[in-house]
Amino acid sequence: MHDTIAQIQLLRRQKNAVILAHTYQAAEIQQIADFVGDSLALSLEASRVKDAELIVFCGVLFMAETAAILNPRRKVIMPDTAAGCPMADMISAEQLRHFKAEHPGAKVVCYVNSTAEVKAESDICCTSSNAVKVVSSLGTDQEIIFVPDQYLGKFIEKQTGQKMILWEGYCPVHEKLSADMTKEAKSRFPGVPLMVHPETRPEVQELADYILSTGQMIKLAKESKAQRFLVGTEMGIMHALQNAAPDKQFIHLNACLLCPDMKVNNLPKLLNALQNEETHIRVPQPIADKARLALQRMLDLS
Ligand code: 13P
Ligand code: SF4
Repeated sequence: MHDTIAQIQLLRRQKNAVILAHTYQAAEIQQIADFVGDSLALSLEASRVKDAELIVFCGVLFMAETAAILNPRRKVIMPDTAAGCPMADMISAEQLRHFKAEHPGAKVVCYVNSTAEVKAESDICCTSSNAVKVVSSLGTDQEIIFVPDQYLGKFIEKQTGQKMILWEGYCPVHEKLSADMTKEAKSRFPGVPLMVHPETRPEVQELADYILSTGQMIKLAKESKAQRFLVGTEMGIMHALQNAAPDKQFIHLNACLLCPDMKVNNLPKLLNALQNEETHIRVPQPIADKARLALQRMLDLS
């Protein structure tokens, strides 16, 4: 493994590459990355890459596509393009076009966990960090379609008081976490604050002290006076949390919170991608141009 890391370090310098990683990536990937963040932070970071020639995106496909759309002058590669997101694939552009036709006049807000084609059919994107802000920016009189995550959609409805037309997608990883599992963990650690991701079921969110994006979880871990936290999101976050607040204790809620797609990437694949650059992410220009508008409207609110 030392040899693999040494080769990655050499190649990233020779090729002037920047390595971006999501907070759910394996610890070995987070440790080697130049930047680790949630979807919003990664989108911003990708859009600002100027000095590097090559962006190595360690996450899932929609994230690397977003980086390629936001920074068309840079080549974006992934360790393995087989790392997808089942939630993103729960709505196609064709299905969204039909949905829009059923609700003429509605604006489409799409969660960044969506394909480039779906983004291209949308008015504005959001991430779990800024979803409430994005929806609030559209005004209370505006009819809104929200795709694809119904649970994030319900969270936004609760925060804003605004009803939306929800697509019935969900994250198959966060969906596995039940209220019973959550209650059981809470009973073992009474008084320990619980943070969960807004992709969890509403009945799980009801039991939580904080409902946060992964980036917001890291901020809370650093800034809160609490010394221990229960954590209800994908287990890769545990490395990022421990790294951010080494003196605090983080207790993962349940081992069912493991995203197989986020674990497709590893160091040998990262090295291979740097060597061959065969995993180049290409988004057809007409799709990229339309999707960029929806992403840029979101970034303009940041
Ligand atoms: P964050 O933007 O909170 O990191 O979430 C991304 C994601 O895929 C959650 O499943
Ligand atoms: Fe997609 Fe869920 Fe995995 Fe996030 S955790 S990448 S939403 S399947």
